[in-house]
Amino acid sequence: MQTLAEMAVEVLRCADGRAKTALSHRHAAAWFAARASGQPLPIGRASPPDFPARPAKPDLLPPRDVPRRRPGSAQGRIALLHAVAHIELNAVDLHWDILARFTDQPMPLGFYDDWVKAADEESRHFNLISDRLEALGSHYGALAAHAGMWKAAEDTVADLKGRLAVVPMVLEARGLDVTPGMIEVFSRAGDSETRAALEVIYAEEVGHVAYGSKWFNWLCGREGLDPKEAFHDLVRLYFHGGLKPPFNEEKRAEAGLPPDFYWPLVEAQAPRD
Ligand SMILES: [Fe+2]
Ligand SMILES: [Fe+2]
Repeated sequence: MQTLAEMAVEVLRCADGRAKTALSHRHAAAWFAARASGQPLPIGRASPPDFPARPAKPDLLPPRDVPRRRPGSAQGRIALLHAVAHIELNAVDLHWDILARFTDQPMPLGFYDDWVKAADEESRHFNLISDRLEALGSHYGALAAHAGMWKAAEDTVADLKGRLAVVPMVLEARGLDVTPGMIEVFSRAGDSETRAALEVIYAEEVGHVAYGSKWFNWLCGREGLDPKEAFHDLVRLYFHGGLKPPFNEEKRAEAGLPPDFYWPLVEAQAPRD
């Protein structure tokens, strides 16, 4: 029987986007079927790769070399969707990585349920956006993409609280801030199908941020730490650049992120490019 950690490593080692997300859906279904039967799969131990396997295309470039997106044009909207697809594929890997990377720390089964569900949802997000790219005459891999996406994972490779602070509670929370603007771009362009895909993503991403807050607070509780102080320390340690307002206060609140967690980090350092 495959352990959860082995399943996670299998997804991380799969390069092709559609194949990776198909495997991700299959493993998530196996995990939840076993949970429903009352006999959860063992978590196990595995050695996740330092970097997840990725397809030969897109070419990965330093952020400053990725062409700028001008959402006023059809080509600009394709570039924007391409960037979203890249983020979603990275998110699939980030969620399986947290499942495989920290198996030395015993966690309640609900921790694994949450991240398997998040990985399953990211897989759907990648496919939804890839479908829209293809409907618009492009595809994932057609344009260059951001090379630095795995940095947050590398920086927090040995720190589960740091991983939760930076990935769901900073980066995915940032997604909640910017997605309404993207929905508006596709609405104005009359592209209701892309708008619908982005609305699915927007609704489900609140859950991912909430899982981050939930398990971050839980770990702080287990270790007797003040969660707000710990969050500030870890974000300053691992996230290079201050947080950028405006914040989506409503959705952040829904996800269990209070203002005194993120506002003090705005001026922490010079904003990142
Ligand atoms: Fe997503
Ligand atoms: Fe997410």
